[in-house]
Amino acid sequence: MVVRRLAFAVLLLPLLGSTAYGQEIPGNQQVLPGEPPFDCAKCHSRPEFLAGKTDTPEGDAALLVPDSIILSSRHDTLACASCHPDQSSVYPHEAAAGTARAVPCESCHEAQGTAWHASSHAGNVSVEGDAPTCLRCHGEHAVHGAEDRRSPTHAFNIAELCGGCHADPAIVGTYFAQPERVEAKAPVVQYFQTVHGAALTRGGLVISATCNDCHDSHRVLAADSAASRTNPENIVETCGRCHVGIVETYEVSAHGVARAEGRRSVTDRPAPVCSDCHSSHGIVRADAQDWFVGVVEECGDCHAELYDTYSDTYHGKVTKLGYGLTAKCSDCHTPHAMYPPDDPRSSVNPANLVETCRRCHEGANENFAQYYSHGDPTQRDKYPRLYGARLLMTLLLMGVFGFFGLHTALWGARIVIERFRGEEDSGGAAEATEDAGR
Ligand code: HEC
Ligand code: HEC
Ligand code: HEC
Ligand code: HEC
Ligand code: HEC
Ligand code: HEC
Ligand code: HEC
Ligand code: HEC
Ligand code: HEC
Ligand code: HEC
Ligand code: HEC
Repeated sequence: MVVRRLAFAVLLLPLLGSTAYGQEIPGNQQVLPGEPPFDCAKCHSRPEFLAGKTDTPEGDAALLVPDSIILSSRHDTLACASCHPDQSSVYPHEAAAGTARAVPCESCHEAQGTAWHASSHAGNVSVEGDAPTCLRCHGEHAVHGAEDRRSPTHAFNIAELCGGCHADPAIVGTYFAQPERVEAKAPVVQYFQTVHGAALTRGGLVISATCNDCHDSHRVLAADSAASRTNPENIVETCGRCHVGIVETYEVSAHGVARAEGRRSVTDRPAPVCSDCHSSHGIVRADAQDWFVGVVEECGDCHAELYDTYSDTYHGKVTKLGYGLTAKCSDCHTPHAMYPPDDPRSSVNPANLVETCRRCHEGANENFAQYYSHGDPTQRDKYPRLYGARLLMTLLLMGVFGFFGLHTALWGARIVIERFRGEEDSGGAAEATEDAGR
C-alpha cells in the first residue's frame, strides 16, 4: 500500500514542482494530462458550498481547508495533491482509483516514521486514539516547525501536548497503574515543579529541558529499554546535550571513570549518573536546601562507611538535623569532580585541603586541615594517631575503672566486715543520731 502510494506521489512530483503556492499560477490547480485544472479551493475554501456535505457541522467545518492554511505552514512548498493524490482529479472523490484520505506523513519523513514505529507509543498501544500519531502531535494542515510559537511542538506547548494523555487520569490509570511506575504517574505536575519547568514558565527559557528533550519526540521508550534516552546508560548524554560543562567534568571524575569501567561501590551499586543524584522528575535548583541536604544520604547509599564516619563528625551531626550550613559531602569533594584523595586533582588531596576548608573557615591553615573528616579510630593503618588516642583513652578508662572498682569493692568488703564485728555499738550510735535530728 505505502509503496504504491509512494510511487504515485513520486510520479506526481514533477507535475507539482513548478506550481508552488504564492506564485502566479495558483498552486492547487493541478493540471493532469488530458484534464482541466482541478481547483481544490473552488470547493474547499467555500463554507457555503461545504454546508451539509457531511452529517455534522463539525464534519463540514473540517472540510474547509483554504490554501492559506498550507501557505502559512511548513508545507508551503507542497500542493494539496502532494498529500491527496487520490482526490486530486476526480469529483466525487470516491470515484478515484484509491480511497485513502491522504498519504502517510512518513512517505516523505522516513526517519521520523521509523523512529516512531520503534517507540512504545506505536508498539504498546492497541486502542486507537490512546497513543499519539503524527497527526495528534503535529496536526494535519497547520503543520509548523518546533521553533514556531503556534506549533504544539514548540517548547512552551510540549508539556501540554504530552499532558493531553500523561495527565489524563484515564490513560494513566490504564497504562501506568502498577505501583512501581512512580515516574509515570504525575510527570506533568512534577515537571512544572522542577527547575526546568520553572525556567520555562517563569524564566521564559525555551532552551530549558522539556519532555521531549529527555524522552525524544519520536523514539519514546521506557527507561528500562537500552535504546531509551532516559536509560541510565544514556542519561549523561541526554543531560549533556545542554549541560556540556558538567558532563566534561563528570566524565573524567572517579564516578565517570568507574561508570565507564563498570566498577561498583562497596554496596554493589554502579557509579552514579546525573539522575541518581538529581532525580528525573524532581530536579530542583542545586541550592535548594531539602535536596542538597538529602544528597548526603544518596552518597551514603554507596559509600556506607564514609557516611558513618562523617555522621560522627560535627559537620555530619549538624547536617543530620537538616541544616545546610555545615560541610556536606559535596562541599569537600565538589559536586562533580570527585577523585581519590591521593589524586592531585582531588579537592581533598593534602595539597588542596586547606583551600577546601577555607571556603567556609576563613582562617583555616595546615593545622586546621589535619582534622579528621572521616576519622575512624578502629582503622589503625589509616588513622594511627586516632587509633593510638583511642587505645590510650580506653586503657586509661579501664585503668581508672579498674582501680576504683577494686577500691570500691575492697571498701564495701570492709564495711560488711566492720558491721559484723561491731553490730551492737553501731546500732546504738544510729539511735543517738535520730534523737539529735528531732
Ligand atoms: C467540486 C468540489 C470539490 C473539489 C474541486 C474538490 N473537492 Fe474535495 N471534497 C468535496 C466534498 C463535497 C467533500 C466531502 C464529501 C466527500 O467525501 O466526497 C470532499 C472531500 C475531500 C476529502 C476527504 C475525503 C474523505 O475520504 O473523507 C479530501 C481529502 C479532499 N476532498 C481533498 C480534495 C483535494 C486535495 C482537492 C483538490 C485536488 C479537492 N478535494 C477538490 C468537494 C470538492
Ligand atoms: C502535508 C500533507 C497535506 C497537505 C499538503 C494537505 N493535506 Fe489535507 N489532509 C492531510 C491529512 C494527513 C489529512 C487527514 C487524513 C486522515 O484523517 O486520515 C487531511 C485531511 C483533509 C481533508 C479531510 C478533512 C476531514 O477531516 O474530513 C480535506 C478536505 C483536505 N485534507 C483537504 C486539503 C486541501 C484542500 C489541501 C490543499 C489546500 C490539503 N488538504 C493539503 C494532509 C495534507
Ligand atoms: C508524541 C508527539 C509526536 C509524534 C507522535 C510525532 N512527532 Fe514529530 N515531532 C514532535 C516534536 C516534539 C518535534 C520537535 C523536535 C525538536 O524540536 O527537536 C517533532 C519534530 C518533527 C519533525 C521535524 C524534524 C525533527 O525530527 O525534528 C518532523 C519532520 C516530524 N516531527 C515528523 C513526524 C512524523 C512523520 C510523525 C509520525 C510518524 C511524527 N512526527 C510523530 C512530536 C511528535
Ligand atoms: C509530500 C511530502 C510530504 C508529506 C506527505 C509530508 N511532509 Fe512534512 N515536510 C515536507 C517538506 C518538503 C518539508 C519542508 C522541509 C524543509 O524545509 O526542510 C516538510 C516539513 C515538515 C515539518 C517541519 C520540519 C522542520 O524542520 O521544522 C514537519 C513538522 C512536518 N513536515 C511534519 C509532517 C507531518 C506531520 C506530515 C503528515 C501530516 C507531513 N509532514 C507530511 C514534505 C512532506
Ligand atoms: C495520545 C496520547 C499520548 C500523547 C499525546 C503522548 N503519550 Fe506518551 N504514552 C501514551 C500511552 C497510552 C503510553 C503507554 C504505552 C505503553 O503501555 O507502553 C505512553 C507511554 C509513554 C512513555 C513510557 C513508555 C513505556 O513504555 O512505559 C513515555 C516516556 C511517554 N509516553 C512520553 C511521552 C512524551 C514525552 C510525550 C510528548 C512528546 C507523550 N508521551 C505524548 C499516550 C500518549
Ligand atoms: C530532565 C529530564 C526529563 C524531563 C524534562 C521529563 N522527563 Fe520523564 N523521565 C525522565 C527519566 C530519567 C525517567 C526515568 C525515571 C526512572 O525510571 O527512574 C522518566 C520517566 C518518565 C515516564 C515513565 C516511563 C518510564 O521510563 O518509566 C513518563 C511517562 C514520563 N517520564 C513522561 C514525561 C513527561 C510527559 C514529561 C513532560 C511533562 C517528562 N517526562 C519530562 C526524565 C525526564
Ligand atoms: C554524585 C552525585 C551527583 C552526580 C552523579 C551529578 N551531580 Fe550534579 N550536583 C550534585 C550536587 C551535590 C550539586 C550541588 C552542589 C552545590 O551547590 O553545592 C550538583 C550541582 C549540579 C548543577 C548546578 C551547578 C552547581 O554546581 O551548583 C547542575 C546543573 C548539575 N549538578 C547537573 C548535573 C549533570 C548534568 C550531571 C550528569 C552529568 C550531574 N549533575 C551529576 C551531585 C551530583
Ligand atoms: C534542553 C536542555 C537541557 C537538558 C536536556 C537538561 N537541562 Fe538541566 N537545565 C537547563 C537549563 C537551561 C537550566 C537553567 C535553568 C535556570 O537557571 O533557571 C537547567 C538547570 C538545571 C539544574 C539547576 C542548576 C542550578 O543552577 O541550580 C540542574 C540540577 C539540572 N538542570 C540538571 C539536569 C539533569 C540532571 C538533566 C538530565 C536528566 C538535565 N538537567 C537536562 C537545560 C537542560
Ligand atoms: C550509586 C553509587 C554512588 C553514589 C550515589 C556516589 N558514589 Fe562516589 N563512588 C561510587 C563508585 C562506584 C566509585 C568508584 C570506586 C572505585 O573506583 O572503585 C566512587 C568514587 C568516589 C570517590 C573517589 C574515591 C575513590 O577512592 O575512588 C569519591 C571522593 C566519591 N565517590 C564521593 C562521592 C560523593 C561525595 C557522593 C555524593 C555527592 C558520591 N560519591 C555518590 C559510587 C557512588
Ligand atoms: C569536611 C570535609 C569532608 C566532608 C564533609 C566529607 N569528606 Fe570525604 N574526605 C575528606 C577528606 C579530607 C578525605 C581524605 C582523608 C580521609 O580519607 O580521611 C576524604 C575521603 C573520602 C573518600 C575516599 C576514601 C578513600 O580512602 O579512598 C570518599 C569516598 C569520601 N571521602 C566520601 C565522602 C562522603 C560520601 C561524604 C558524605 C557522607 C564525605 N566524604 C564527606 C573530607 C570530607
Ligand atoms: C560548606 C562549608 C564548610 C566547609 C567546606 C568546611 N566546614 Fe567545617 N564547619 C562549617 C560550619 C558552618 C561549622 C560550624 C560553625 C562553627 O562552629 O564554626 C563547621 C565546624 C567545623 C568544626 C567544629 C567546630 C569548630 O569550629 O571547632 C571543625 C573541626 C571543622 N568544621 C573542620 C573543617 C575542616 C577540617 C574542613 C576542611 C576539610 C571543613 N571544616 C570544611 C562549615 C564548613
